Amino acid sequence: MEERLESLYAEFSREIGAVSTGAEVATIKAEYLGKKGRLNEILKSLKDATPEERKTLGPLSNELKQKILSEIDEAAVRIEREEIDRRLASERQDISLLDSLRDRGLGSAGYHPLTAIGREVEDIFISMGFDILDGPHIESDYYNFEALNIPANHPARDMQDTFWFSDMHHLLRTHTSPIQVRGMEKHRPPFKFVGPGEVFRNEAIDASHEAAFRQIEGMMVGEGVSVAHLVHFLKTLLSEIFHKELEVRLRPGYFPFVEPGFELDYKCLLCGGKGCSVCKQVGWVEALGCGMVHPRVLRYGNIDPDLYSGFAFGMGWDRLVMMRYGIDNIRHLRSGDLRFVSQFKAY
Ligand code: DAH
Repeated sequence: MEERLESLYAEFSREIGAVSTGAEVATIKAEYLGKKGRLNEILKSLKDATPEERKTLGPLSNELKQKILSEIDEAAVRIEREEIDRRLASERQDISLLDSLRDRGLGSAGYHPLTAIGREVEDIFISMGFDILDGPHIESDYYNFEALNIPANHPARDMQDTFWFSDMHHLLRTHTSPIQVRGMEKHRPPFKFVGPGEVFRNEAIDASHEAAFRQIEGMMVGEGVSVAHLVHFLKTLLSEIFHKELEVRLRPGYFPFVEPGFELDYKCLLCGGKGCSVCKQVGWVEALGCGMVHPRVLRYGNIDPDLYSGFAFGMGWDRLVMMRYGIDNIRHLRSGDLRFVSQFKAY
């Protein structure tokens, strides 16, 4: 029986030395130490042994059991460590990858130009004391039209092709102007804020039109706020964005929520006003719509138009980005093409 125990151990040693997974360890443990395992099988014959023999065989088999147990534990620990090493090797992060991306011209990420300019515009307004407000993409008819003095059946609703939801009361906001209404609900005069964000129009897409684009809305209300304030803030904004003093002009423009309403142009930066393809030979580039807030709109915001006045403006900023970086097609902006985005540095 002693020999059987010895040969059992020899066999066990060979097997346990060759295992490579936790499952194999468990199988071996059951095979040797389980109730119907090989050790118990041998111990069954102990009952046929003489008392003398039992005296030595008892402790011997116990010792063997302990040895097998501790070797099984060691094997389990070894396998766990090997598995960790394997995972560490296979999940390794290759930080030199950035270099190879850079070699292919796809390296260091920069802000998307829309984000970069958006942040610059926000910073400029913050430095001039404006708050930054947000509004939902899905708006109600009330915020997008009605409270902006565009009641149902008003022809101005057709100025913007709208994505309506099937309930016909909700829509994807067609402009950031609803932020004006939300801002008036939250602020008492005097206040000034801007609200940047994505807007949506059901339009045919071409080199200068997208169904989704970005605007920034601005509003300032207080006692004696005038067109002079409007021109001052917008001129400052444009000059800071283009890093040079810009010449601006106002033309009359119709928007139901302002009276009087204007279109603000700036002198073309590419030709200096002589006329080129970018300014369509006019010498001036349309920058934004603006005006003095219509008294009815102030009333929708619970502001007394006899006490307060205000200006508002709404500016598309995809065009601004295109002008600033010389991008000739609006579709690049949302193409998701890394070769395009990686040309822009974080500012
Ligand atoms: N919401 C207008 C549009 O998307 C732009 C606009 C014009 C906003 C005049 C204004 C404004 O706040 O005063 O075309």
